[in-house]
Amino acid sequence: MAEGTGAAQVEELMASAMSELEAADSLDRLEEWRVSYMGRRGRLTQILRSLGGMSPEERRFVGGAANRVKALLEESLGQREQAIKRAQSRGSGDQDAFDVTLPGWPMPQGGLHPTTRIVREILSVFQSMGFQVVEGPEVEWERYNFEMLNIPKDHPARDAFNTLWVDYEDENGDKPMLLRTHTSPMQARYMEQTKPPIRIVSPGNSYRYEATDATHEWQFTQIEGLAVDRGVTFANLKGTLFEFARRIFGEDRQVRFRCDFFPFVEPGVDMSIDCFSCGGSGCRLCSGTGWIEIMGAGMVHPKVLEAAGVDSYIYTGFAFGMGPERIAMLKYGIDDIRLFHANDLRFLKQF
Ligand code: DAH
Repeated sequence: MAEGTGAAQVEELMASAMSELEAADSLDRLEEWRVSYMGRRGRLTQILRSLGGMSPEERRFVGGAANRVKALLEESLGQREQAIKRAQSRGSGDQDAFDVTLPGWPMPQGGLHPTTRIVREILSVFQSMGFQVVEGPEVEWERYNFEMLNIPKDHPARDAFNTLWVDYEDENGDKPMLLRTHTSPMQARYMEQTKPPIRIVSPGNSYRYEATDATHEWQFTQIEGLAVDRGVTFANLKGTLFEFARRIFGEDRQVRFRCDFFPFVEPGVDMSIDCFSCGGSGCRLCSGTGWIEIMGAGMVHPKVLEAAGVDSYIYTGFAFGMGPERIAMLKYGIDDIRLFHANDLRFLKQF
C-alpha cells in the first residue's frame, strides 16, 4: 500500500508539473515553477527526502521513479526556457536579442542616367561662360522647326529631317504639327521673345523617323546653343566651342572647323576634335581620319534673325547644335546608341 502511495504521488506530481510547465509563459513564472517542484522545499525534493524513512523496496521503487522524473523535469525546464526566450526576442523587443554590432543592410543607391550626366556636364560648361539654360516643347509647330529656320516648304533640306508629323489638322486642312526634329526651333522661339544680348543653351529630346542602328535612334537628345549681340563674330564661335571641347575632352584637344551646310547658318561649319584615342594618327574610333566630328555650328543666317524680329543690320550671332549621347559615346567609349534607352542595369550601373 505504501509502495502504491509513493508511486501514485510521483505520478500525480509528474502530471501536474508538466501541465503547469506548459502554462508558464514567462521566465519569472518558470522560476516559480522550478522552486515549487525542485527548490529546497519543493514537492519533488520532499519526496526525495522522504526516501530515508521508506522500506528498502519502497525506496528503490519510489527513488528510481522520482529520479527519472527529476531528470525529465530538468530537461523540460531547459526546453521551456529556450522557447520563452525565442518568443520574446521575436516579439516586441528583447534588446539583448538584437546585435547592434552587426553590419547593416546596404541601402540600394540609384544613379543618374548617363545622358542626364553628360547633359548636365555640357550645360555647366556653357553656364560658366554666361549662357542661360532654357527649354521648349517637343511637340512643335512646323513654323518654328522649319520655316523660321530658313527651311521653307519644299526646301530639299527637309528631306534630311525625317519628320514624325502629328495627326492634327488646322482649319485649312494642313498638318502643321510635328515632333521636333532638332532643338534649333528654340533659337526662333527665344529670339521672338527676348531682345539681344542673348546667350542660351537648350537641351531636350528630338525625334526622327529613322531605322535604328548603332549610331541612330529615333529619339535622341540635342543641345542647342545661341549667342546674339552686336558685333558677335566667327572668332567668338571658335573661342567658345574650343573652350567647350577642352573642358569636356581634355586640355590638349585640337579643334578643326570645316565648311558644312545648314539652312539656318551662313557660313555653316562642322566642328571636329583630334582623335583622343589615337592622338591623330588614325584608328577605328576616328575611322582612320584622326578627327572626330562633334557638332554643327555657324553664324546665324540673317533670314533667321529677321524672321524672329531681330534686326540683322545691327545684330549678329552664332549657333551650334550637338548630340549629347554622341558626346557620351565618345567620352566613355560606348559603341551603341541604343544602350541609352535599353534600360539595361548592367549598362546603367557603370555610370
Ligand atoms: N539642328 C542641326 C541638326 O539637327 C544641328 C545644328 C547645326 C544646329 C548647325 C545649329 C547649327 O544651331 O548652327 O542637325
